Amino acid sequence: MNHPINRQTTLYPHVPADSLAAKRPDVDNSGVAITGKRYYRKDIFEQEWDRIWTRTWHLAGPLCDLKQPGDFFTYDFMHESFLITMQADRSVKAFYNVCPHRGNRLVYTEHGSMEAFTCLYHAWVFANDGRRLAIKDPESFESVDTSHAACLSALRCEVHAGLVWINMDDRAPPVKEALGLPEGLLEMYRLDEMVTVSRQVQEVTGNWKLALENVIEGYHFDVVHEPFRMPEFVNPLAIQYDLHRNGASSWFAPFGQPTFKGEQTALNESLKGFLRNAGVDPETFKGTAQDVRPTVQKLKRDHAVRAGFDVSGFIDEQFTDAWGVSAFPNTLLAMNFEVVLLQRLQPHPKDPERYFMTPIVLYRPGSVSGTGLPPYLSVPGMDLDPKSIPATRRYRIEDGFKLGPLIEQDVDIIEKTMLGVKSRGFKGPIWGEQEQRLRHFHAEYDRYMNGDK
Ligand code: FES
Ligand SMILES: [Fe+2]
Repeated sequence: MNHPINRQTTLYPHVPADSLAAKRPDVDNSGVAITGKRYYRKDIFEQEWDRIWTRTWHLAGPLCDLKQPGDFFTYDFMHESFLITMQADRSVKAFYNVCPHRGNRLVYTEHGSMEAFTCLYHAWVFANDGRRLAIKDPESFESVDTSHAACLSALRCEVHAGLVWINMDDRAPPVKEALGLPEGLLEMYRLDEMVTVSRQVQEVTGNWKLALENVIEGYHFDVVHEPFRMPEFVNPLAIQYDLHRNGASSWFAPFGQPTFKGEQTALNESLKGFLRNAGVDPETFKGTAQDVRPTVQKLKRDHAVRAGFDVSGFIDEQFTDAWGVSAFPNTLLAMNFEVVLLQRLQPHPKDPERYFMTPIVLYRPGSVSGTGLPPYLSVPGMDLDPKSIPATRRYRIEDGFKLGPLIEQDVDIIEKTMLGVKSRGFKGPIWGEQEQRLRHFHAEYDRYMNGDK
């Protein structure tokens, strides 16, 4: 049997050419080549702050975490912290989380509801729209110009696709334009109708770009995730990769189908688990391995329709497959109808060889039809019926890895790769067709770092 290589793979040949699921035209990034230096050199790490992080859009959090006026959450990135607040008219504002009096960090809670924030140092008070409301002992400031501290310091903030985005650069293009994603690709998931069921922060060894690269290619699936029996339920060679504007890219990864290298008829243990997860007893299942994926798709779609969801914009495959999207520089989403995994890979504030994984899991209430969310789109410890926004669980490197065995396999190999990319003998990565999203990312990275953007 002659299987296509990924660059040409069209996973859903039945969809019309203007569908969001259709294969996009190729982008030629063939001139891009890099060395290992950008993964470990301190000067490059520091340049990233000036040339990338202060100029691009950050996913601060999901809009569903701000339910009513007065609600707020904080978003920490490297040495900065930001305060995101919902206004009386339900618009959203963002501020640097710092008191303009003497520089104390203003808010230490990660989310809550407050009309005003009082600084812990000298009790100046600020409204949630940033205005200074009170100075303690105002008479002692009568002869002092405080006009430059009349407000919290604001930064760009836009809501797009049910997500709150912030940008430190006043001249940056609007978020929708800057992300470069096809119109509707995020919007169709109606993320504002979902709820946050898990928030975690895990410190890990390695450069943030090595971690990003790992998430956007499936070439390692049947090697690194062999112990997770991944070849039994996903076929890396069937993944459709697409490249978009401004360094963004996506993949559509078919789950519930064994690799072409494996058994295509009998049900393996992973496919049995896949059926069980969807509420089907594998012992009474009459079909072959090839029938598993469409069976689960139909079952989940029927459940969603019965539960009253509008699924008209979704193709059947979106009920099993993971649609992974990356927006430059560090925003990653993995989506199916029931669940969306938001991920921001964050560098350590000082160390190029450490980063943080910050997964937030969003769940569409009432959508799950079987025994739980698919394991490849979830993390341990989720409560699918949360009474409030879950508190972030934080793990340092010394606490061990807590985000589950699948991601731990990735983290282990990234740690080992971090050792290798520093070698004088490493001449830079070689990217194949299944790694085209990596080349596309680094082309955009170079544009920012070289001053072309
Ligand atoms: S630093 Fe905030 S009131 Fe003084
Ligand atoms: Fe992986």
